[in-house]
Amino acid sequence: MSTKSRILHELERNRGSFLSGETLAEQLSVSRSAVWKAVNELKKEGYAITSVTKKGYRLETSSDLISREGMLPFLSADYDPENLYIYKVIDSTNSEAKRLVAKGVKEYAVILSEEQTGGRGRLGRDFYSPVGSGIYMSMVLRPKISIEKAIRVTTAACVAVCRAIEEVTGKTCEIKWVNDIYSGNRKICGILTEAVSNFETGEIESIILGIGINFRRKDEEFPEEIRGKAGALFQTETGGITRNRLIASMINQLLRLNEMIESGVYIREYRERSLVIGKTVDLVSRSSTRKARVLGIDEDGGLEVLLEDGSGEVVRSGEISLRGLFEKE
Ligand code: BTN
Repeated sequence: MSTKSRILHELERNRGSFLSGETLAEQLSVSRSAVWKAVNELKKEGYAITSVTKKGYRLETSSDLISREGMLPFLSADYDPENLYIYKVIDSTNSEAKRLVAKGVKEYAVILSEEQTGGRGRLGRDFYSPVGSGIYMSMVLRPKISIEKAIRVTTAACVAVCRAIEEVTGKTCEIKWVNDIYSGNRKICGILTEAVSNFETGEIESIILGIGINFRRKDEEFPEEIRGKAGALFQTETGGITRNRLIASMINQLLRLNEMIESGVYIREYRERSLVIGKTVDLVSRSSTRKARVLGIDEDGGLEVLLEDGSGEVVRSGEISLRGLFEKE
């Protein structure tokens, strides 16, 4: 670990409090000028560090750059931080994950970026990914399940992300089928799952789980086409909660994904968190829009609906329109 990284680690562990240059130098067995130099480099990178003569250095609670050091205090001890790939800017963390898979990256590798220039959403849409205010994260998974059961990864991931958000922020999360997470009646998170299959065997080699969270953003900062529908976990102040803390908690929850899928407990929680069961919704596909009443969600995350003509169906693709979802019936 470099001196800069070790200093950042110490500052993160003492976030909001001063650490003297002398203490840091002694703890890390380096000179005070090496500490000073490393702190200056960190400041240049954008860390909000206050230096006060005779007091030392303080990492401000508002400082919120994504870093390995910022996650370490919250990460499960069995997660190897070497599996974290952090970028300032990237086209899409899902695309980078696929490139890393081709190079043989380990399972549970996590790719993060402060900004995405080509963030992708479901059904070919863009995912708005401006610098600093979101969490753009992809995790490489190799679940030992059949292709048919692979859909369970998305469903279980929704539950894992909801648990992490609630644990860290105390905000209640609900799920709009199939993989949108809502809080306070606004979409605050979307999940895009992509498969990488082995050309020769035709089997799924890896699953890339892409998670996009609007972390801290004012309503008016969203593009017009999603304004009013999308929201963020925080508008301005986060009360000292950092993206690093939430990312670490999501990683911890996602490490238990296989267990959740095997035991089947996730589907009960997915149903409990569902925004749509018992509601009348519009089923939107490329060719049609049909009104339907949602009766339930099956073991594989399929939407059990009753159509207007009285027939039943299990919907496995497409999406449902939010129109009327919050209206009283
Ligand atoms: C959706 O709402 O349609 C899904 C959005 C998924 C966005 C995330 S951000 C991290 C990862 N990289 C991408 O390009 N997309 C996913």
